[in-house]
Amino acid sequence: MDLTLPRRVAPELLDELAAGDPRAQRSRADLRRIHRAMATLSILEGALDRIPVASAPRSLLEIGAGDGSLMLRLATRRAARWPAVRATLLDRLNIVAPHTLERLRQVGWTPRVVAMDVFDWLAIPDGTRWDVIYASLFIHHFSSAELVRMLGALAARTRVFFCCEPRRSALALLGSHLVALLGAGPVTRHDAVSSVHAGFQGRELSALWPESRDWVVDEYKAGLFSHCFLAIRKER
Ligand SMILES: C[S@@+](CC[C@H](N)C(=O)[O-])C[C@H]1O[C@@H](n2cnc3c(N)ncnc32)[C@H](O)[C@@H]1O
Repeated sequence: MDLTLPRRVAPELLDELAAGDPRAQRSRADLRRIHRAMATLSILEGALDRIPVASAPRSLLEIGAGDGSLMLRLATRRAARWPAVRATLLDRLNIVAPHTLERLRQVGWTPRVVAMDVFDWLAIPDGTRWDVIYASLFIHHFSSAELVRMLGALAARTRVFFCCEPRRSALALLGSHLVALLGAGPVTRHDAVSSVHAGFQGRELSALWPESRDWVVDEYKAGLFSHCFLAIRKER
């Protein structure tokens, strides 16, 4: 059951901690466990499987990529089918470990880290069109007004956009109060609840995506706690 409360975006504690702060490091380890519990990789792969085969991606960009662990898990599963992908990891913090980059190279992908605020990055004129831009647990950080700007700029730069975010539902709220059972520390326990209040339901993200006949969009529940948005550009 979806919560009837409106979206409430509040600062998350992890965003206020320095990269090397032990509380931030603990929270990022918590996130890796939470992604496994939420089956984020399967949800991401399910969305990517919907991309028409003729356009198998050569360039991927993850925004708000954190430590790059989701990209690495994706690469490990996909590299045989999607060889030689240029994999770019954008986050305002530079926290992708050298061994993560090395493992991406080992599977044949070419990683690049962009340590920038996403809005600063989007403000740089750039003719690149990515095959896929995706995000997990990132889009909910932003107000609707910010998302209109962000999604509009992302749409101009990609063929596919996908995000997997918290669902603003009663079940997700219950789950967020139980992350301690997965060993989550105080930062994650706070941010998990906050994230659900800032999460999405219904067609909220579709309403923020630029209106155009050029896109096939879908917005859907995934797993127990996630809310996804997928936009695929129509090929002419
Ligand atoms: C909740 S964490 C999620 C990290 C990763 N996507 C995951 O699912 O584990 C949100 C990430 O967004 C980054 N972030 C927050 N605001 C940002 C911004 N304006 N531009 C770029 N990165 C940002 C933070 O540094 C953090 O790594």
